[in-house]
Amino acid sequence: MTTPVLFLLNHTRPLQKTLGVLGDLCRDRDLWSIQVWVCPDEELLRLVTPAGWEALTGHSVVSERELPKYLEQKPLAVLCQSWRKELASLLAHSGVPVLILGDELPPGLPPGSAALPEFDAMEILQRLEQLASPQDFAGKTVLVTAGPTAEDIDPVRFITNRSSGKMGVAIAWAAAMRGARVLLIHGPMTTEVPDLPNLERFPVRSAQQMHDAVRQHWQEAQVAVLCAAVADFRPDYYVPQKIKKIEGEGMVLHLERTPDILAELGAMPNHPFLVGFAAETDDVEINALNKLRRKHCDLLCANDIRKPGSGFAGDTNQITIYAPDGTVLALPMLSKQAAAYRILEEIAKRI
Ligand code: CTP
Repeated sequence: MTTPVLFLLNHTRPLQKTLGVLGDLCRDRDLWSIQVWVCPDEELLRLVTPAGWEALTGHSVVSERELPKYLEQKPLAVLCQSWRKELASLLAHSGVPVLILGDELPPGLPPGSAALPEFDAMEILQRLEQLASPQDFAGKTVLVTAGPTAEDIDPVRFITNRSSGKMGVAIAWAAAMRGARVLLIHGPMTTEVPDLPNLERFPVRSAQQMHDAVRQHWQEAQVAVLCAAVADFRPDYYVPQKIKKIEGEGMVLHLERTPDILAELGAMPNHPFLVGFAAETDDVEINALNKLRRKHCDLLCANDIRKPGSGFAGDTNQITIYAPDGTVLALPMLSKQAAAYRILEEIAKRI
């Protein structure tokens, strides 16, 4: 199902920029499930014909006369390229949030209305997603760990786990969209972290550093989702110079355990609502239930990494969520973003 978004276009902005941003929004419209409606002013209609706008957006142009009818269909938002005073009363009474791009926000507009500093497709999409998300994490702080950790052997070698960080970043993003303040503690990962005002990031390298960062911040959080693939072992000492090979000789590496961040947090009195992850290859259910109990989690999300589409680095995941009361929720194969939304839904029901 697509959600319409109404775009009031204004000729006072450079046409190239308008077409560029609109093109970006429309190119990704299926991905974001949005339908872009445009209402260009007279001048813009002289520069680009209605057929041209229709070719770009896949929808016929909305005339100013038709605006009340379209507003009654409750689009997700009205995006105003710049403020049009003559529409103030119509927009104020429509109940539809108004996003004003690069202009000030006049008073009296419906809840959810905002001024966006940049006229930029990514920023618009972020705001639309926020409007489409329930704000059930408003006022809450969610701590998320993500990505692998790296345990250095010498200046050029290290031990790590397979993890792209995508699932953790998807959780952080979804929590931020649902109104949370997010503390994202992540190891060295390839996934980009979105720039959001309510998302603070703490990059770390080793399991010890991730542990120390979690220890420093867990008391601020009502929810902790520990998604990171923490290395379970590290070399028992670090060699500060590059270890040289000796002809014909192998090498023995002595490893020691790293702190188990999830188990330690689970053992704390008054710990936040705690969500753990388990990436398994065998006996998924037995291992998941065991981890849920052993680490005192409030929810445990398990996936079978041997299943196609459920492994590392991919864009999808098939997760089963286990709760201590015996609830088992097997989610279908979903994008990591959609899986993150479902996990947050389950958390929201319980906090
Ligand atoms: N975890 C952690 N600190 C560690 C190891 C794991 O916080 N040192 C967390 C992970 O972020 C994840 C969960 O614990 O939420 C995974 O637990 P576990 O299964 O014990 O990690 P594995 O390495 O998969 O354990 P095992 O080898 O026993 O299967």
